[in-house]
Amino acid sequence: MARILSGIQPSGQLHIGNYLGMMKPMIEQQENNELFCFIVNYHAMTTLKNAEELRRNTLEAAIDFLALGLDPDKCFFWVQSDIPEIQELSWILSCSTSLGLLERSTSYKDKIAKGITTNAGLYTYPVLMAADILMFQAEKVPVGKDQKQHLEITRDIATAFNMTYGETFILPEPVIREEVAIIPGIDGQKMSKSYGNTICMFEEEKPLRKKIMKIVTDSKGVEESKNPDTCNVFQLYKLFASPDQTADLRKRYLEGGLGYGTAKTELFEIILEYFGPYRAKREALAADPDSVRKILKQGAEKTREIAEKTLKEVRKKSGINY
Ligand code: ADP
Ligand code: TRP
Repeated sequence: MARILSGIQPSGQLHIGNYLGMMKPMIEQQENNELFCFIVNYHAMTTLKNAEELRRNTLEAAIDFLALGLDPDKCFFWVQSDIPEIQELSWILSCSTSLGLLERSTSYKDKIAKGITTNAGLYTYPVLMAADILMFQAEKVPVGKDQKQHLEITRDIATAFNMTYGETFILPEPVIREEVAIIPGIDGQKMSKSYGNTICMFEEEKPLRKKIMKIVTDSKGVEESKNPDTCNVFQLYKLFASPDQTADLRKRYLEGGLGYGTAKTELFEIILEYFGPYRAKREALAADPDSVRKILKQGAEKTREIAEKTLKEVRKKSGINY
């Protein structure tokens, strides 16, 4: 039994890249492991400046997790800001973090390159993430490939703290599933809330179909043989299809006679079918947001006990408890 932990930013509507890269691998762990799953609203505020949207996205992310099968009785499930101890640990860890480490962060550099107005929160983002992970002595952290460097930074910070003050933190390992490491969006780039190229799990049928029809492909005609391995439609299809369905579509791509319109319709149908059973649960939860808030507050209460314990030890080791 391992302690598994991961968080997700409520910076927009969650999408199938988030689902396959992070949510599904997490939910699968709740049966046989100790699972810590949370919504990182402090991290989201580094880029999302609209209060109403942050509030709504936070609750919606929780609703998505619960609808997709996360069971709050089998895991620790909370919102980051409900555990204020995280901020204190973040400060303490920032004093064991070299500037060079933060300057090398590719996600920070990417954001600058994209012209996002920077702020100190964006820069110290990896320290807060390290606090999230180290606070709970997580052993394994399931994430998409883009988060690998953040995990390396966390390990470096933990090592620096341990060397200064004595063994305190476990060094966490990232868990990255190669087959879902980078799910492509409708434009073929990594699917991301910040690129406007997402397909969401619970989108209404009509907009869902419209989006799928917009997926970028090459311009081969119906009769021509097509390469499934370079096609965004096929890449998405195989993530939801059975091995037989995947083999069948692959064959039809290679044979020719299959238009991209048909492939897209099949992708639309399989996504609709896959998430169909979760829709009713989502609707029920969305209609009763107070019950969701209650689940989150209870989750935070349970989780906080662990945070208090770690912080007590850290305060003692670092001399903050005078
Ligand atoms: P986004 O890029 O949409 O803002 P986040 O950075 O909040 O997503 O990522 C949340 C989690 O989902 C992370 O573990 C991340 O690695 C994973 N994830 C996000 N997009 C993808 C993707 N396209 N493919 C695989 N995993 C992804
Ligand atoms: N940086 C992560 C992301 O953008 C979110 C995150 C914050 C996280 N704290 C974490 C992920 C702790 C794993 C563990 O996806």
